[in-house]
Amino acid sequence: MNTVVCVQGLGFVGSAMAIACARAVGNLGAPAFEVIGIDLPNEQGKARIDSLNRGEFPFASTDSSLIEETRRAAHRGNFKATSDSTVMKRADIVVVDVPLDIDFDQPTPKLVLTPFERAIATIGEHAKPGALVVVETTVPPGTCENVVLPILRQSAERRGIQPFALAHSYERVMPGEHYLESITSFWRAYSGIDDDSARRCEEFLTKVIDTANYPLKRLSSPTASETAKVLENAYRATNIAFIDEWGRFAEKANVDLYEVIDAIRVRPTHNNIRQPGFGVGGYCLTKDPEFAAIAAREVLGLGNQDFPMSELAMRINRDMPLHPLRLIDANLGGLHGKSIALAGISYRQDVADTRYSPSQTFVESAEREGATIHCFDPLVQHWDELDRPVLNEMHQCPDVHAVVFAVPHREFRAIEPHAWLGGKTPLIVDANDCLSAEQLGAFAAAGCGVHKVGRGLVSDGAGA
Ligand SMILES: NC(=O)c1ccc[n+]([C@@H]2O[C@H](COP(=O)([O-])OP(=O)(O)OC[C@H]3O[C@@H](n4cnc5c(N)ncnc54)[C@H](O)[C@@H]3O)[C@@H](O)[C@H]2O)c1
Repeated sequence: MNTVVCVQGLGFVGSAMAIACARAVGNLGAPAFEVIGIDLPNEQGKARIDSLNRGEFPFASTDSSLIEETRRAAHRGNFKATSDSTVMKRADIVVVDVPLDIDFDQPTPKLVLTPFERAIATIGEHAKPGALVVVETTVPPGTCENVVLPILRQSAERRGIQPFALAHSYERVMPGEHYLESITSFWRAYSGIDDDSARRCEEFLTKVIDTANYPLKRLSSPTASETAKVLENAYRATNIAFIDEWGRFAEKANVDLYEVIDAIRVRPTHNNIRQPGFGVGGYCLTKDPEFAAIAAREVLGLGNQDFPMSELAMRINRDMPLHPLRLIDANLGGLHGKSIALAGISYRQDVADTRYSPSQTFVESAEREGATIHCFDPLVQHWDELDRPVLNEMHQCPDVHAVVFAVPHREFRAIEPHAWLGGKTPLIVDANDCLSAEQLGAFAAAGCGVHKVGRGLVSDGAGA
């Protein structure tokens, strides 16, 4: 009989994880698992379910292998998606990929725990006796032991069934060109609430991930692996924030910080130094560094524990998109009545995800100051967070005072400035290393003022 895997939550992580499980190969080349993806019976959940059942990945993606594997999964017959959580009664393994949010509008950020607890309670209510629950959701350290385990234990006791096994293994998935591979060909850490849970989790991951080339790393407790995920993302967010002040220095000192960073990166100890950019977005780096302080206060009962570096990093990252806005303000002599084209609204190149995008901060601030913004993104049709349509094509330079290149989507690198401008000379701001040196030079030669974040003024527009 096939091992049945249920993936709870078919968002950016769960959809891709479900496809990774469906393509896993077992004995004699047969599929290793029967996979059932589960989402909520609301409009968004149903759209994701229907899309996966049609063999279409539910998010725009530049990863052709993920698109192809989704099609194959639907036709192979070992994958389906549903909003009926009672299917968990067949599940040998339940993978948890639902969100866990933080309410940043409180005087002290607070965990929004109820929806997550409800998701775990659903598993406790329906899953097969003794099933393995693998939590992939990013959670404050201590959550598996102090929140998930008690809910699962109570459910098993109430149902009079064999207790569930519980493991934690966090996702490092990277939506983008290598979306699927970032799950199947990448290192994973995991842990179990006991030896049996850890062993079963290892056995499961070994079938989904190329562990011969990317060995698994077992940590001694779920709280340790939960800490690893949160620290990993806090480290990344802090690295990004650190370079911001150097970018501003470089612009004033007329130094190209990209050239400087290239020289530094040859040192193996320094090869992950970040570069200046437009800011940090997405669902993870904008919230995860806060999880440690929250864990101390709300999960582990340690009271207030300070994380001044992480907090400062998050603040700096949130404000980063305001820097190019101030550059435009200074160059155009104010923002009121000015029109700006914003090229790129997703939080990262080659992804369609607009959650907590730095472009949102940019647009909201610019509009508050009286500017009009025209939004372009090759991968996004509708900007859900701001409820407005997005133009996908930017064949010709729009009639605006300034163009900001905010996300290094590959389409922007293909622009041929002279033909694209068609005689117009807006201020060009490359806020995120989106354009090549040749493109910057060509914009300057065509008479545009050109500014690059982390490098400064490339041309004042008088050099045509
Ligand atoms: N997006 C990333 O790149 C990324 C990378 C690594 C880790 N993570 C983490 O993975 C987790 C999921 O992130 P995401 O980006 O996939 O979120 P998402 O919001 O895209 O998807 C979550 C899905 O879970 C569904 N859901 C919520 N409650 C449910 C329930 N009770 N039953 C069934 N479905 C339910 C939602 O409807 C939604 O479709 C988060 O903890 C996130 O921090 C995300």
